[in-house]
Parts: sequence; C-alpha cells; structure tokens
Amino acid sequence: MNTMPKCWAVIPAAGIGQRVGSKIPKQYLQIAGKTILEHSITPLIDNNRIAGVTVVLHPQDTHFADIRMGASDKIRTVIGGATRAHSVLNALKSFETQLAKDDFVLVHDAARPCLTSDDLNRLINLCLDHEVGGIIGSRVTDTIKQVEDNNVVNTLDRENIWRAYTPQMFKFGILQSAIQKAFEDNVSITDEASAIEYAGYQPCMVEGDVRNIKVTTAEDISLAEIFLQEEFNL
Ligand code: CTP
Ligand code: MG
Repeated sequence: MNTMPKCWAVIPAAGIGQRVGSKIPKQYLQIAGKTILEHSITPLIDNNRIAGVTVVLHPQDTHFADIRMGASDKIRTVIGGATRAHSVLNALKSFETQLAKDDFVLVHDAARPCLTSDDLNRLINLCLDHEVGGIIGSRVTDTIKQVEDNNVVNTLDRENIWRAYTPQMFKFGILQSAIQKAFEDNVSITDEASAIEYAGYQPCMVEGDVRNIKVTTAEDISLAEIFLQEEFNL
C-alpha cells in the first residue's frame, strides 16, 4: 500500500485586482509574454510531488479559457467565493472524495509570479514531516513601529516578526475544518495559516526568497518583471 501523502495545489484566482486598477484582473496581465497567473502556476505544475492544481476562478471569468496552460491535464477549475478564504474553501470542498484528511494542500496566490522551485521543494520537504504544515515567509528587516493616531507608541522586537508569503501547505482535513471554524466564529482570516493558528496549531515557518512578492498595486508589476528576469532570465 502506498502511504506517501498526496500533495495537491490550489491557486485562488477569483479576485478582481481592484488595487492594481487595470481593465482586466491583475492575474491576467502579461509579464514577458505570459500572464501573471501562468508564472504563478508554472513551478507547481512542474513539481513532480504535486499531483494536480485546482485554479479557483471568478464566476464571470472570461480570460482563463484563453490561457495556453489551461489545457494541461494537471489543471482543474472551480468557481470562487466572496473572499479569498471562501474561494479556497470552495476548492477544498471539491477534494472531499479525492483527498484523504492527511493528504496535503498547497495554497498559492495567483498574484505571486516569482516563486522559485527551490523554495517550493524546501516547503514540501519540511511540511511533509510536520504535524500540520507550514508556510513560506521572510524575516522583516525594517524597524517596526506601533502607531496610534499617527504617533509612534512603541518599537516592536523585529527578531520575531516575519512576513507571510505563499505557498502555504497544510493537511487537507485540518485546513478545511480550521477555515470552517473561523467562518462559524466570524473570525476574519487573511491567509490559511491564520485559520490554522486560530484552530490552535503552530504552522512551521520556512524562510524563502524575498522576491516572492504579491502583485498588489501597479508598481509591483515592474518589480515582478525585474525579479523574473533576474531569476529566470526571461
Ligand atoms: N482571491 C480569490 N477570491 C476572492 C478574492 C481574492 O481567489 N474573492 C485571490 C486573488 O485572485 C489573488 C489572491 O486571492 O490571487 C490574493 O488576493 P488579493 O491580492 O487581495 O487579490 P484581489 O482580491 O484580486 O485584489 P484587490 O484586493 O486589490 O481587489
Ligand atoms: Mg483582495
């Protein structure tokens, strides 16, 4: 019997990219001849440890059908929800017959085009042996201030402060019940790890490349382009 847990990826791509403010959702803007979404999916599709990738689409999506990679037999699609967490939960619901509770799900933002295969492999290797799973992140290098009414009231100890990126990789059963619990208790969750933390677990933090940025505003697109050229010689 094969006891190796399965790994399946989820790409939430059901957002409209309001802060970038382009005519089409940001994940469909092109960098070096490929959409941001394709750059984000590529390392997951190429990874032999990942059995497949589920892309979560907006109900009115008109762009995904035009993507070359959409035809890959490793890709499936589901329709997203009102928030990123709802979109992720929709994908998890579609896995109920396909994944066992101890299989792993890796959630990676459609808007993070600069993930390296090194970071992905390190995350997978460390999380496969972990109780719940973990996330990619990086240490904060700036001094961090706590501000109230525009006045600095405290300087935080940055030794223990990290930025959270994606992918975030967790056991399927624990992740699904953690997100459901957060919804039931009306707790707002901005990433998968915050749901896992709310459920009482401690995800592991895997230090990754600081260039794994999320394209959030228009300026981030030029930055992503530079990083992709540096890393992948595009
Ligand atoms: N996302 C999603 N479903 C939603 C909202 C967001 O799948 N209802 C996805 C986005 O497509 C993106 C990721 O979650 O890949 C991170 O979200 P964010 O950067 O906030 O993207 P948008 O919500 O599209 O951008 P904005 O908040 O500026 O509108
Ligand atoms: Mg958003």
